[in-house]
Amino acid sequence: MTSMRIASGLGLLLGLGLAAGQAQAQEGDAERGQQAAGACVACHQADGSGMSVSGGESWPRLAGLPAEYIAKQLHDFKEGRRENTTMMPFANMLDDQQVVDVAAYYSEMPVTEAQGGEDADEDLLARGEQLALRGDWDEYIVSCKSCHGPGNEGAGGTFPGIASQHAGYIEAQLRAWQAGERGNDPQNLMGAIAERMSDEDIRAVSVWLANQSVASE
Ligand code: HEC
Ligand code: HEC
Repeated sequence: MTSMRIASGLGLLLGLGLAAGQAQAQEGDAERGQQAAGACVACHQADGSGMSVSGGESWPRLAGLPAEYIAKQLHDFKEGRRENTTMMPFANMLDDQQVVDVAAYYSEMPVTEAQGGEDADEDLLARGEQLALRGDWDEYIVSCKSCHGPGNEGAGGTFPGIASQHAGYIEAQLRAWQAGERGNDPQNLMGAIAERMSDEDIRAVSVWLANQSVASE
């Protein structure tokens, strides 16, 4: 009985995977991924840490993000669902196999420290902590951790870890959702949240998250 249920559950999962149309690529291989990532280190760095560029466009940390999430973003850049003129040519360099390979490569790296939250004051950090861990029901803002997982370290392949991500990058993404410029999640879960956040809220949660270090086992 139970094994029947598991078997049909597996069948369903496999069916969904095939329906997603990306199942032609083999499973990701981190060693091959390292080769394909040669073009990425200039910005995302050899340890996957990326960089907070103050006053410019920050390069996100890729180290420790879920492989599924990374692969989805790369396909979204390639197919124009996520628009960024810096990233697009690099996503376009990768074929479907290389996408899953680099995704495996970066997902296996330990999470690195984030930049950009160093000089935040106490009040700003307290507001950021509230939004990240408890939310703000008066503003209808759900806590970040309700989707991004305990510690905001990520949950499954869909919800990337946002703790220990660069403040400038988090801020830029929240603003992009607010302005309707990042529309690659068909359910637009982040758009609905970002539109309720003030400039101060965006700044607060970004610097607080950047100050959270994620212990790697
Ligand atoms: C010239 C700098 C640059 C290079 C080189 C580069 N990227 Fe990026 N990458 C960026 C920027 C900037 C962003 C953020 C884009 C945005 O704001 O939407 C980004 C975003 C990403 C994201 C989305 C991360 C997230 O958290 O959603 C992935 C995945 C990614 N890059 C992978 C790669 C891979 C793989 C390569 C090499 C094949 C590469 N990048 C090369 C600058 C670069
Ligand atoms: C209802 C679920 C949900 C909640 C609550 C939520 N998020 Fe998200 N978030 C998502 C999903 C789904 C994605 C991935 C979207 C995609 O695939 O492009 C995401 C992605 C992100 C990203 C992009 C990460 C990257 O590497 O590019 C940031 C930044 C982010 N969320 C910040 C927040 C913050 C800050 C909060 C709290 C104020 C929050 N999220 C609350 C669902 C949620």
